[in-house]
Amino acid sequence: MKKPSKAEMQERERAFDEQNRVIEQKAAAIRHKILVLSGKGGVGKSTVAANLAWALADRANQVGLLDADLHGPSIPLMTGLVGETLGGSEHAIQPVHLAPNLRVMSIGFMIAEPDTPTIWRGPLRANVLRQFIADVEWGQLDFLIVDLPPGTGDEPLTIAQAFGDADGAIVVTTPQEASLSDCRKAINFVRKVNHRVLGVIENMSGFVCPHCGQRTDIFSTGGGKLMAEQMDVPFLGPIPIAAEVVALSDEGKPIVGPDSPQAVREAFESVVGALVGELAE
Ligand SMILES: Nc1ncnc2c1ncn2[C@@H]1O[C@H](COP(=O)(O)OP(=O)(O)OP(=O)(O)O)[C@@H](O)[C@H]1O
Ligand SMILES: [Mg+2]
Repeated sequence: MKKPSKAEMQERERAFDEQNRVIEQKAAAIRHKILVLSGKGGVGKSTVAANLAWALADRANQVGLLDADLHGPSIPLMTGLVGETLGGSEHAIQPVHLAPNLRVMSIGFMIAEPDTPTIWRGPLRANVLRQFIADVEWGQLDFLIVDLPPGTGDEPLTIAQAFGDADGAIVVTTPQEASLSDCRKAINFVRKVNHRVLGVIENMSGFVCPHCGQRTDIFSTGGGKLMAEQMDVPFLGPIPIAAEVVALSDEGKPIVGPDSPQAVREAFESVVGALVGELAE
């Protein structure tokens, strides 16, 4: 590949600075920016992010949901928006409306075939994520919830840097020690990038029987709370494991809605209450 000339390098730098200015401007119109991450994959980040957005929109807030997972964007499926496409123009992209006060952006809306992989190198991925902020018409928002890919790699770093003024991050874990250990790493990552840990959520904590609604602790539970105490970060609460959660998510329905088991709904509401409490501090 040809090396860029000095003039080309200068032009790139100018474009980068200009994009930073636009990102700052967009971010200033968003009151609360919350990143959802985890040390491990498959622990329920996207479930938490999507339902947090739903729950906050239900409370009459203007909400944006940004799917920052470029490899495995699951937000379109979980929100029932598969097949939707983006409106607007290249630098003024209109996100998809899930409700009048809930806007969603995902790479999934830009790919015709949902099973097509996005094979991009790091710098290109970082650029796409920056465009998701700079080129999307988010408008005035009370909350922007950002669903990150698993781990503490390039993409979480790009988002953390782009949103230097974010309120902080929620770290999702499951009760097993393997996940808790990765959760500690995620907490340290959040601290390293100078963000606040808004709290830990222990997902898949206890099992809700689909027949009687009774909660049983088939795995160990409480590890998330203990770990949060040890790491000196808030614990936002446990969310039980329930077969209906998978079914609802696959159907693009909220687990905070009327079709969800009461134990899950109540647990999630309590987590949202704890988060709102943290934000008020
Ligand atoms: N509390 C729960 N009870 C039952 N199933 C759950 C629960 N939370 C999440 N799931 C299911 O677990 C699977 C993984 O959840 P999700 O996609 O939210 O995880 P993730 O952390 O975003 O994964 P990835 O790391 O791949 O992005 C999904 O099928 C989801 O429906
Ligand atoms: Mg996910």
